[in-house]
Order: sequence, then structure tokens, then C-alpha cells
Amino acid sequence: MATLLAQRDAPETRPFMKIIFFGDIIGQPGRQAIKKILPQWQKKYQPDLVMANGENLAHGLGITEKSLKEVLAAGIDLVTNGDHIWDQKEAKRLLADKEIPLIRPANFPPGLPGQGYRLIEVRTKKILVINLIGRVFMHQDYDCPFRKADEILEEKGEEADVIVVDWHAEASSEKICLGWYLDGRVSAVLGTHTHIPTADARLLTQGTAYISDIGMVGPRNSSLGANKELAIESFLRQTKFEYKIAQGPVEVNAVLIEADQSNQAEKIEPLREIVA
Ligand SMILES: [Fe+2]
Repeated sequence: MATLLAQRDAPETRPFMKIIFFGDIIGQPGRQAIKKILPQWQKKYQPDLVMANGENLAHGLGITEKSLKEVLAAGIDLVTNGDHIWDQKEAKRLLADKEIPLIRPANFPPGLPGQGYRLIEVRTKKILVINLIGRVFMHQDYDCPFRKADEILEEKGEEADVIVVDWHAEASSEKICLGWYLDGRVSAVLGTHTHIPTADARLLTQGTAYISDIGMVGPRNSSLGANKELAIESFLRQTKFEYKIAQGPVEVNAVLIEADQSNQAEKIEPLREIVA
């Protein structure tokens, strides 16, 4: 009985900041799954902030106002991006509007609309979200993500209580190296882009939460969310891949981060559920 009372009277042990970050949301099946799962996870985990990579929101290719509004209405607070951001014409207009909670990789060449980071205020706490894109095995020649991270941290790092990086990259070596490069300087480095969840979620030695790839929110019986028969055909015949989103059950991949106020994390937990 004494123990029970002691627990009840114990001071609030809620972490300084709880964040849920979803990997790449794939088209309509992904958006539907978010609408289904997020209310349940809001109740269960009570996050302060919910974010997602949205570069595949519209039919798997880029982002439209309609698809963005749908996930914002479902409870996503900020949407990050990657190489597919320019697939839809609307993206430039959406990114140019600073009121819209949408960012794109910071290390795109200069002269493009949008911001590569956003400082968000949640109940007097400030969270800096940085979006970076990798250069290894990517189709375009982007600016250096390492030096861009330095630049942003130099300019904005001091203002933030918590710093989260969406690291949109292909090569696991480049991914982990940015993790180590930013270890102890940011709260979390979270990989996106490959759509395949990795089993390496951990706290790095200086306290930064890290995962090479969160994985997607997209059709499970697929090739990275796309129709698997069409994908196999393109490998077999060496023809152009006819992109079509797969149907059926959706795997929802995200991570739960608990961060303290010294650019360290206390916990990173992969969240994974299959939605019929
Ligand atoms: Fe991507």
C-alpha cells in the first residue's frame, strides 16, 4: 500500500519532449493508415509533436495541397521531404508559403523555394527540425549535408531546446556517418527514403537518437510501396518501371523519441503496426 501511495504522489515523470516521427507516407493507402493509427497513438503515447516525411504523399510521387491537408488534418504537425518534392508542380507554391508546415532538404542548391529547417514552439519549448538529403547513390548533385548541418546549427542551434534531423538518404554508410558527425549536437538523426525499416535504432555514444531508416507508411505486399509485379517486370525485362501504388494491408513505421533539454535523447523506440 505504501508503495502504491508513493507512486501516486511521485512528481511528474513525463519526458521533456515526446516526438513521433513517421517514415515516408506512400499515397492514398499511407494517408488512410495515418488517419486510422494516429488517433490511437495520440492516446497511447501522448506525443508533444508529430512529424512525417511526405515526399510520396501524392500517388507516391511528391506532394499536393489536397494530400498535405489530409495528413495535417489527421494530426501531423510538420511534413519533411526529399528528392521527390518537385514531382508535383504545386510543391513550389506550397513551400513558398511560410505559414504551411512543410519543409524540404536544406542542402538543395540555392535559389529554390522553401526552407530547409523550421523552429517550432510547443508549450514554450523550441524544437528545431532540420531536413537534409544525402549525396551517395542519389540522382542529383546536392550541396554537402554535413557542412549544411553545421551552418544551420551555428545559426539556429542555440535557440532550440530539442533538435531533430530528417536525414533523407540512400547509403547506410553516409547515413551513419552523419549520425556520428552530429552525435551530441542534436537530439535525433532519423533516416528516411529507403522505405525499409532498419534494426539499428539506438542512442549513439554522445546521446543522439539514431536510426538508419524509419521505414515507410505504405502497402506491405509491394516493392517499397509500389506494385510488385510491375517492379519485377522492370528488373526482368530491363524496361522502364511503370509506377503504380500497391494495394492491401499497410505497414506503419515510425519512431517514438523522448528527448531531454541538452540535445540528447533518453529513448528511441521503433513503432510498427500493420493496418488492414
Ligand atoms: Fe526519397
